[in-house]
Amino acid sequence: MRLFDTHAHYDSGAFNADRQEILASMPGRGVELILDPGCDLESSRRAVELAERFPFVYAAVGVHPSDCGPWEESWLEELRALAAHPKVKAVGEIGLDYYWKDNPAHDLQQRVFHAQMELAEELGLPVIVHDREAHQDCLEVVKAHPKVTGVYHCYSGSLEDAKTLIRLGWMLSFTGVVTYKNARRSLEVIQWMPMDRLMIETDAPYLAPEPFRGRRNDSGYVYRVAETVAQVKGMSPEEAAEAALENGKRFFRIEEDTL
Ligand code: NI
Repeated sequence: MRLFDTHAHYDSGAFNADRQEILASMPGRGVELILDPGCDLESSRRAVELAERFPFVYAAVGVHPSDCGPWEESWLEELRALAAHPKVKAVGEIGLDYYWKDNPAHDLQQRVFHAQMELAEELGLPVIVHDREAHQDCLEVVKAHPKVTGVYHCYSGSLEDAKTLIRLGWMLSFTGVVTYKNARRSLEVIQWMPMDRLMIETDAPYLAPEPFRGRRNDSGYVYRVAETVAQVKGMSPEEAAEAALENGKRFFRIEEDTL
């Protein structure tokens, strides 16, 4: 299987003990490409460093809604400078997270999301969106920036919202959550959606798929997402993985000659 894990946080402290070894093991486990999105300035910098160190790792830079509390306008300058690196392929992860009660205020989250959508438009980069329990407001921000295209990572919305996003030209990406017992709604979305808009990811170190649920996740487990997609779509796991890989390369504009 040829795999592209389009969302994995190797800049996370969860990999401090074995980051080098685990990333070095990925080509041997069928993982050809990894995209590491930043969550704040520091993790965005670390993601770029990892992309420099490993030829198959790419980065996105951005400020996650849960980490936008100390936001200052000057952060845009720093993100812009980081995004000049040729291996930075998106602005992310950005979005809205209303799930955690101690997250920054909703209006601040929205302001930071808007600002980074504007940055993405200016830079001509796609965005990686995190939407947790904020479906309506998230979609409003997306619609307010029609020139920006992106991917909803770990898609958790309704079939109806999925139809809207696909119509707007967006991609949807799925994690190991699709292997959990309560995944019925995501499976419906996968069944309906066009295969050329789908990407797969781990969101490592979080969300390990069954039967590894509860462990630290890594890109070596992304094949479980490909298997689940394959089952729903009536194709082989290899075909599903290959299609998701090609979609990711096209979406993030990763050229063969930069590999
Ligand atoms: Ni993430």
